[in-house]
Amino acid sequence: MNKTTHLLSAEEKQHIASLLSTLLSDYHLHYQNLKAYHWGVRGAGFFTLHSLFEKYYTQAGERIDAIAERILSMGALPPHTYGEYIDNARLPVRCACESSWEMIRNIHSDIEKLVIYSREIICAASEVHDDVTVDMMVGYNADDEKKLWMISSYINDDNIKCEK
Ligand SMILES: [Fe+2]
Repeated sequence: MNKTTHLLSAEEKQHIASLLSTLLSDYHLHYQNLKAYHWGVRGAGFFTLHSLFEKYYTQAGERIDAIAERILSMGALPPHTYGEYIDNARLPVRCACESSWEMIRNIHSDIEKLVIYSREIICAASEVHDDVTVDMMVGYNADDEKKLWMISSYINDDNIKCEK
């Protein structure tokens, strides 16, 4: 049976909200890392990466709001201070002084981690038939897996093996 949030038990809501709260902290670091890279990128890839990082942080900002509101719909208060984000996030803090190649490789690595964290939430939400959270995370991962392919293609041109 499909469940809306008010059909989840209090324990189920608390568990899903807790997982989403950690992901929210990761997204805040991801957002700020992308801002740092948007500001700090230099060199031949400037115009491409400056715009790409802006596109990515704009989307991250939208997800931050959606995840926070999902937590609220579970009856919990989302983390909302920088201290909570730093303490709870699993993504590292990135530096605007990195080279453009380090930046794009690091963003690839960070998006890979976000996909893994979202998959963990998909598993937990599936167990309690929380279809809305599952749907949200599946949507993010579908988009992020496409991003990973595109970044891989930007970094190197041999990520797809040709059998010929
Ligand atoms: Fe800007």
